[in-house]
Amino acid sequence: MTGLSDQQRQRIMAVLEAGPLIPVISLQREADAVPLAEALVGAGIRVLEITLRTPRALPAIELLSKRLPDDVLVGAGTVTDPAGYRRAENAGARFVVSPGITPRLLDYGLTANAPLLPGVATVSELMLGYELGYRSFKFFPAEVSGGVKALEAFAGPFPDVAFCPTGGIRQNTARDYLALSNVKAVGGTWLTPESKVSVGDWAGVSRLARESLASCRGQYGDP
Ligand code: 3PG
Repeated sequence: MTGLSDQQRQRIMAVLEAGPLIPVISLQREADAVPLAEALVGAGIRVLEITLRTPRALPAIELLSKRLPDDVLVGAGTVTDPAGYRRAENAGARFVVSPGITPRLLDYGLTANAPLLPGVATVSELMLGYELGYRSFKFFPAEVSGGVKALEAFAGPFPDVAFCPTGGIRQNTARDYLALSNVKAVGGTWLTPESKVSVGDWAGVSRLARESLASCRGQYGDP
């Protein structure tokens, strides 16, 4: 069985290391994509996950990959099958995140242009990915799947696995996750609240991102 190449492993790790905070964004209006991304980038955010939960996601990924190619890594989230994966790649997604795993998705990720961050919630799911060579995973839904304590426990049998937990994480809990040696980045929707995005409060989005990064400082190697 041919597994994930070292190069693919490094490519997804590079995405996590560009974090440490990854906004998980469900865009309602394509016109919000650029000002929202600029507000986040201005605050120091370098990775965005645009979820394929709205029809605006693919056009927004395409737009951002053309307009801000050097400023931010834009990936696609909520990818659940190879067809969605292909659409995300064609739109220019630099990485792909799935909420869970299927054999077809894991298989597609082995040779995909955009590296895969597969979602797992249990050790057995992790082992299915691990067997194929995956060493970086989204831990989802983090808070209800055991949170920080579960990730601490995963480090015992799998010290070489890195995680990006998402699901239920907020500004005041992100730092607890980032304090773990096996957590490289943390994701969530709290960074782009609908209450701010819907009214175009880009200064507010920027402020929240800055505050969130500041409250995590010291937990991810920042002086
Ligand atoms: C995800 O897809 O990662 C989650 O929907 C994020 O969950 P949150 O809204 O609790 O941050």
